Amino acid sequence: MCNLTVLGHWLARTGFPVGDGLALLPAGCDIFGMSFSFRFTHAITRRPAASITRGLRAVDTGNPDLAVMQAHHDAYIATLRETGAKVVELPALDAYPDSVFVEDTALCLPQGAVIMRPGAPSRLGEATEMAPHLRALYAQVVAITSADSFIEGGDILVTEREILVGRSARTNAAGIAELARLVAPWGHTVREVHTPPGVLHFKTDCSLLDAETILSTRRLSASGCFHGYRVIDIPEGEEAAANTIRFNDLVLMPAGFPRTRDTIATAGFNLREIGNSECAKLDGGMSCLSLRFTPT
Ligand code: GLY
Repeated sequence: MCNLTVLGHWLARTGFPVGDGLALLPAGCDIFGMSFSFRFTHAITRRPAASITRGLRAVDTGNPDLAVMQAHHDAYIATLRETGAKVVELPALDAYPDSVFVEDTALCLPQGAVIMRPGAPSRLGEATEMAPHLRALYAQVVAITSADSFIEGGDILVTEREILVGRSARTNAAGIAELARLVAPWGHTVREVHTPPGVLHFKTDCSLLDAETILSTRRLSASGCFHGYRVIDIPEGEEAAANTIRFNDLVLMPAGFPRTRDTIATAGFNLREIGNSECAKLDGGMSCLSLRFTPT
């Protein structure tokens, strides 16, 4: 692997003028042995609240069972720790039924964190709750602030070469443009893409498996948004397994999707299946449950 984009970010941090040429460098070029898009020292999670039964959902398939969800959450955190991560577990926030899905509150990059402005009105306050925890770990924390801007972390896929952001019912063009302005000084390029109609978030339908490999549903990859990456297709009928996370040496994926499990394993990745039945009732998955980062 060879990722000169990392060099670009390091140069940007040192004040060296970084030109467009770095955006053209091949993905997976890891000259320093770093892969900031899937190797992390830290994660932040939040315990599910009893109010989870009032969580948002596209289709009502029944209320989640808090005890089962907590057991799945414990297994998720234990697995992150097994990879060597320090996991900060925040207490439940009963005022925010969806607050277990911390990913939507911020974007964490090597140079700093960006506090989001969730597009779901009931979730706006979750971002404010997250901010002090990131300020405690990062030297630089900025925020999406325009009243016109809406953006949730579930719509953001960070790769070694760029940041893809899917427009969705939760993320609009103004939010994407504001994010692009905030991360440009850190050497990051934002590319606007589209979340398939009826799908909650862009990453509901895709995940990064390594610097150049993306796991995706066919309905999303058919848009051509992953041109230049190696794409592994989710087997037909297992679209709900597309939201996985690569975290250090493991891929965490939802349990119950044997053809996707075999596809990922055959591609050479070490994986761990985590129960997700309760989060799935609220359209949540592996990525939604954590912020993953290496603070500066
Ligand atoms: N239930 C997760 C969300 O709709 O944001």
